[in-house]
Amino acid sequence: MGVGLLGTGHYVPNNVVTNKDLEKIVDTSDEWIRTRTGIEERRIADKEMDTSDMAFYAAQNAMEEANISAEDLDMILVATVTPDTPFPSIACMLQERLGAPAGIAAMDVSAACAGFMYGVITAKQFVETNAYQNILVVGVEKLSKITDWTDRNTCVLFGDGAGAAVVGPVSEGKGILSFELGADGSGGKELYQNKETDYIFMNGREVFKFAVRQMPESSVNVVEKAGYRKEDVDYLVPHQANIRIMEAARERLGIPQDKMAIAVNKYGNTSSASIPIALSEGVKDGKINDNDLLVLVGFGGGLTWGAVALRWGL
Ligand code: ACO
Repeated sequence: MGVGLLGTGHYVPNNVVTNKDLEKIVDTSDEWIRTRTGIEERRIADKEMDTSDMAFYAAQNAMEEANISAEDLDMILVATVTPDTPFPSIACMLQERLGAPAGIAAMDVSAACAGFMYGVITAKQFVETNAYQNILVVGVEKLSKITDWTDRNTCVLFGDGAGAAVVGPVSEGKGILSFELGADGSGGKELYQNKETDYIFMNGREVFKFAVRQMPESSVNVVEKAGYRKEDVDYLVPHQANIRIMEAARERLGIPQDKMAIAVNKYGNTSSASIPIALSEGVKDGKINDNDLLVLVGFGGGLTWGAVALRWGL
């Protein structure tokens, strides 16, 4: 038996904020944002929509695609650094709101932009050991509530949204073939939530340097661990932080541009939601097909990173 993704889903708020809109609130330009990051616009949730609401919609979408009802869930894992409140967890909120059985395991995972990778790989262990069958994994953020809208260094980068997947058993040879997870707390000072202001602090240049090294390295590692060569990769789904970092990973794998998921232009950096959103869009747009060899790779505050090589399909 393999362990894979039975279905994927996503949700983004309707409200579009363009680079031109940001020109009106901070000293920036559409041209600067596009050329440095690849971002053209992002979605920002309104006051009434909190993190748990976006998680709920993405989860429903993923369960529908997986053809699984809430009663079939054995566990819920939610990766987020922007929960509605520190507790109860979004995972517990989802258990009730989705109508999943009371008594199943539910917890939030904190690994910033690598959170969805941590969630999926944690879920894999429970399915592999036959402890659980169907595990809902959600990556969701309302970064707009911890963004300093007067700081041009950060406010142009982030967006809100949610992505989800159901992790469960698939046939032998399909699903997750290899993974890599890592953390280096010494880099925590480069990217954190400021205790006094609650806003994101980021040393962009240092995070950039870490990311252009780590994303390509982790991508190649999981492909090799799975026993494949770089040229065997059919589709790359990198964390959508900055097109230049994504390009570094793509070039290292030596795969063509149309084989990489790009959603950063539309949604900005949605942290733990970015990989499952891009994945779900890739599936829905028909860019990901049965038997494709996929690499999902992320990095984030912590510092953390995570990657999987995955054979798509059931
Ligand atoms: N508009 C115009 N100018 C700006 C803006 C802006 N929005 N933001 C910064 N600048 C200025 C800076 O002040 C700087 O000016 P200075 O030289 O006078 O001081 C200048 O632009 C150049 O800054 P650089 O740092 O050289 O710009 P760089 O090319 O590195 O791009 C960026 C900055 C986009 C932030 C880049 O460093 C980056 O992408 N870093 C990684 C970010 C990332 O991946 N974060 C992940 C977060 S994930 C998570 O866990 C939430």
